[in-house]
Amino acid sequence: MGRPSHGALPLTGAAALAMLAACATPRPDAPASAPIDGGHDYHTLANLDAFRVRHLTLDLTADFAARRLRGAAVLRIEALADGSRTLVLDTRGLDIDAVEWLPAGAAPAPLAFRLGDDRPPLGAPLEIELPPDLPGSFSVRIHYATRPDASGLQWLEPGQTAGRQQPFLYSQSQAIHARSWVPLQDSPQVRFTFDATVRVPPGMRALMGAEHDPAPSADGVYRFHMPQAIPSYLLAIAAGRLEFRPVGARTGVYAEPEVIEAAAREFADMETMLGTGESLFGPYRWGRYDVLLLPPSFPYGGMENPRLSFITPTVIAGDRSLVAVIAHELAHSWSGNLVTNATWRDFWLNEGFTVHLERRIMAAVYGPQRAAMEDLLGFQSLESELQRLAPADQVLAIDLRGRDPDDGASDIPYEKGHAFLAWLGARVGDEALNAFLKDYFDHFAFQSITTAQFLDRLDTRLLAQHPGAVTRAQLLEWIEAPGLPADAIRPQSDALAKVDQAREAFLAGTLAAQSLPQAAWSTQEWLYFLNNLPRQLPREQLAALDAAFRLTDAGNSEIAFSWLLLAIRSDYEPAWPRLAQYLGTIGRRKLIVPLYARLMDTPAGAARARAIYAQARPGYHPITAATLDAIVR
Ligand code: BES
Ligand code: ZN
Repeated sequence: MGRPSHGALPLTGAAALAMLAACATPRPDAPASAPIDGGHDYHTLANLDAFRVRHLTLDLTADFAARRLRGAAVLRIEALADGSRTLVLDTRGLDIDAVEWLPAGAAPAPLAFRLGDDRPPLGAPLEIELPPDLPGSFSVRIHYATRPDASGLQWLEPGQTAGRQQPFLYSQSQAIHARSWVPLQDSPQVRFTFDATVRVPPGMRALMGAEHDPAPSADGVYRFHMPQAIPSYLLAIAAGRLEFRPVGARTGVYAEPEVIEAAAREFADMETMLGTGESLFGPYRWGRYDVLLLPPSFPYGGMENPRLSFITPTVIAGDRSLVAVIAHELAHSWSGNLVTNATWRDFWLNEGFTVHLERRIMAAVYGPQRAAMEDLLGFQSLESELQRLAPADQVLAIDLRGRDPDDGASDIPYEKGHAFLAWLGARVGDEALNAFLKDYFDHFAFQSITTAQFLDRLDTRLLAQHPGAVTRAQLLEWIEAPGLPADAIRPQSDALAKVDQAREAFLAGTLAAQSLPQAAWSTQEWLYFLNNLPRQLPREQLAALDAAFRLTDAGNSEIAFSWLLLAIRSDYEPAWPRLAQYLGTIGRRKLIVPLYARLMDTPAGAARARAIYAQARPGYHPITAATLDAIVR
C-alpha cells in the first residue's frame, strides 16, 4: 500500500513502517514475528483481493421477542482480476438460511455455501460458490438472521429505557462487529453505498445513519438511502420509541420523548459546531448531521455513524460542559469517515486526528481556555495510561495481529496521536499544519489510508516546504516508539494552574473545603482538582469535601466518576450506595471499567464488585460485559 515518495525526507513513510515492524517488541499472542504487511487487514476473513462489495441492499425485520434481526442482504460485488470463484464473507454468529445468485432480468438461483469454523475474534468465514463465467459485476442475496447474543447489537428491555414503555435496539459496529449483524466484507478498506428497508413494531421508529424521512411511519416500515460510500464499521441501526427535534437547519436530535428537551438544550450549539468544522476542515460532505441519544447502557461516549452520531446520555450535564463528545463525533466527519484508517493498526489516524480537530472546534466555539483545560486533562490521562500499558501497546502504529482490535482503543491513538499533531504544529507553524490537514481531507476523501500513506503525504506536502523543521528520527520516534518523546508539548492552562494552588492550600490545611473557589469552577476545573488529589485521602478530608459540595450526589457523570474512583481508593464508605447505583445504570466503558478494576484491588472491594456486577451484568452491552468478565472474577 505504501506509495512511492518524492519528498524531502530520505526515508519514506513506507520504509519507516518497515523499520517499525522490524524493531517492534514481539507479542506472545501475535503470529510469530513475521514482518507485518502495513496495508494488509489482519482482521477480516474475506477475500478482498478477489472481490469488492460496492453496494448493499438490506431488508430486515426487528423481532424484539426473539431478539433477532431477520431478512436478507443483497451484495452487489465487483470481481477483481484474480479469477476466484469462491466468495468469502465475514460473519460472526449469523444463522444463514440460503444464498442466491441474482441474475439481471432472470429468476434467482440457489448457490452452495459453507460456514467455516469460528476463529475468535474474527468470526466464521461464509464461503459461497459462484457460477462459472463470472461477469465483472454481479449480485448475491443472503437470507439470514442474527442471534440474540450478536456482539454488535444490544436489545434492551423497556425497563432499561427512559420511558420504560417500549424495548430498544441499537448497533455498535466498530471495530469488527458489523459482521455479527450483516454478512459482508468487514474491513475498513471496503466502502459501499446502501439502501435499506427496516420493519419495526408499530409505535416504534427505526433509524440508520443514512438519508431518511424524519416523520414517523404508521406501518412501522422505514426506508433508508446512503449515497456516500462508507466502510462497514460505520453501518448503524437503531429502533425505539424515538422523537426528532431540529436544533438548526442541518442539525437535530433523536431521543426518547422523556429526554428530548434536555438533549436539544444540551446540544444547542451543534449547528455552530458544524459551521465551524466546515470553515476549519473543508465542506461537510454528508448532508445532515443529527445525533441519536441512546439509553445509558451504550458502551461508548459516542460513535461517529455518518449523518447520525450515536451519543451516550451521560454527556447531558445540564450546562453543556461535556459536549466535547459531540465536537469529537462531528469531527470524525472529516477524520475517519472521509479519510479512514485502512487497518486497525492505523486507528490513530482516525482518533488522534479527531481529538485534534475536536479541540480546535472546542476552542473556536467555547474559547481557547476551555480547549486548553481539555487538552491538559487529556494529556494527564495519557500520562497515567503510559504507566499502565506494556511498551508494545504504547506505539501509535500498533500491532494488533491475533488480538481483538477493540483492544487498541487506549489513550495512545487518541491523546498521543493528538500530541503528535500538536508537536508538528509547533515545528512547522499551526497555519501550515492546518492548511496541510484541510488539503489532506480533500485529497484522500472517501479513501482508506495507511500510516505509510499519511507519512508520504506529510513528507511531500508539508515537510518538503519546511526543510529542517522535523527530522526523520523524530517522526519515527513518534510513530513507532513507546512512551512520549522528551520534547512533546505539555499543554498549559492558566485556569488549571489556579486550581493547583487551591488544591495545595486545601491539602496543607490552610484552606478549608468550604472556602475553595468552587462557585467559579467549571466541570473541567473540578475534574482537574479531583484527578490530582493524592491517590488516597484521609476520611476527614473526603467528608469535608463531600459535606461542602455533595460530591457523592454529583449528577455530572464525569465528576461523579472521578469522585467515586477517589472514594474506592480511599475506602470512603458513604459513597457505596451511589457507587452501586452508578455502576447499575451506566454502561459507558470509560466510566465503569476503571471503577471495577480499582474495586478488585482489595478483597473487600472485590466482594462488592462481584455483588454489583452480578446485578448489573444483564443490563450491560455484550462488548462491556466481555471486558468486565475478564476483570471481575
Ligand atoms: N469511534 C470511537 C468509539 C470507538 C472506538 C468504538 C473504538 C469502538 C472501537 C468514538 O469516536 C470515540 O472516540 N468516542 C469517545 C469519545 C471521546 C474521545 C470524546 C468515547 O467513547 O469515549
Ligand atoms: Zn473517536
